[in-house]
Amino acid sequence: MQNKKIENNNQTSSRKLEHIKIALKKNMEFKITNQFENIKLIPKIDKKISYNNIDISTLFLNKKISAPIFISGMTGGHEKTFKINLDFANAAYELNIPMGLGSQRAMIEHKDLIYTYNVKKDYNIILLGNIGVAQLSKYNINQIKKMLEDVDADALCIHTNPAQEIVQPEGNLNFKNAFNNIKSIANNLNYKIIVKEVGNGISKEVAKELDSTNIYGIDTGGAGGTNWVAIELLRRSESDLNFIKEWGIPTAQSLIETKYAFNGFITATGGIRSGSDIVKALALGADACGIAMPILKSQRKGKNEIIKYLNTLIMQIKYEMKKLNCRNIEDLKLLKFNINNPLKTVLKQRHIDLNTFQSKRNKI
Ligand code: FNR
Repeated sequence: MQNKKIENNNQTSSRKLEHIKIALKKNMEFKITNQFENIKLIPKIDKKISYNNIDISTLFLNKKISAPIFISGMTGGHEKTFKINLDFANAAYELNIPMGLGSQRAMIEHKDLIYTYNVKKDYNIILLGNIGVAQLSKYNINQIKKMLEDVDADALCIHTNPAQEIVQPEGNLNFKNAFNNIKSIANNLNYKIIVKEVGNGISKEVAKELDSTNIYGIDTGGAGGTNWVAIELLRRSESDLNFIKEWGIPTAQSLIETKYAFNGFITATGGIRSGSDIVKALALGADACGIAMPILKSQRKGKNEIIKYLNTLIMQIKYEMKKLNCRNIEDLKLLKFNINNPLKTVLKQRHIDLNTFQSKRNKI
């Protein structure tokens, strides 16, 4: 029994490393797009805005951040991941943006690994803790609280990833009490909770159900970026589940569905790759955008490359806003927009009333 436990602990830790290796080695992105290409923002007219006066600061967990972006949770839990998390934290600190941790399950199972997540010791940043929804059945609230305290987290992200778990050779399919567990932890844990997908998207039905709980926010984690099913398929000996590979709700659609049904804080993640994606997401009602894979790829080239990459995105956001004559993020949320096909048809089929969506989106 004891040996089996050690084996499982090591399995969680080495899987974290394997994920990073596979994610970096091949093109592990969806073929389907995030659908932001079908959102057309209509510029405000005749308002001369100078690039230097554009303000992209915003609030994240009620704290001011310098740009509406964050490093989405990726790693921790293996000795080799400490340096990666430190480099992410350095960039988050330099640019005054938040950072997420990868699943902290490994540090609950293995106290020796706490240090691989503990970046706030060196950098005073907004830090998001992380655990899988399936693990909420396994750990009690005190263990989760301790896990967050050990790294001085500012909030807890609960990732829900049924598609990944189905394909993962050692996947946990125990989602039976997922909703009740989320509800219970949101009622009893004194931390803000964000429920996040990891690339298959949150639907309006899920967002509506989550709206009835005390959670603080939703991260859409839509399709169009990193493809976790594809990554897990490479760790699997059979190719029997290849057909799930391109399954998921694209990020732009998931954002609109989530904004339609959920009244809290919303972030858009999943294939966010340009200033244009970010500006469109903000205009559609996102409070901020998360980015994962490109930041990991930059980190491999050196820690300053992360800052360089993010500064390019920040510059792109400002140029997009100048193009649209928007001085700040509030201006973006008042822009008119068109939605082109196929997204327009899909939203109609999903019974999303665009007038209702407009009025929700304009609430700042
Ligand atoms: C992730 N992601 C992730 N999410 C999570 O909640 N817990 C985790 O442990 C991880 N681990 C992880 C490892 C690596 C290497 C990557 C690239 C990503 C998912 C991540 O936070 C994000 O939701 C998706 O990757 C989609 O964003 P991108 O990569 O398309 O920008």
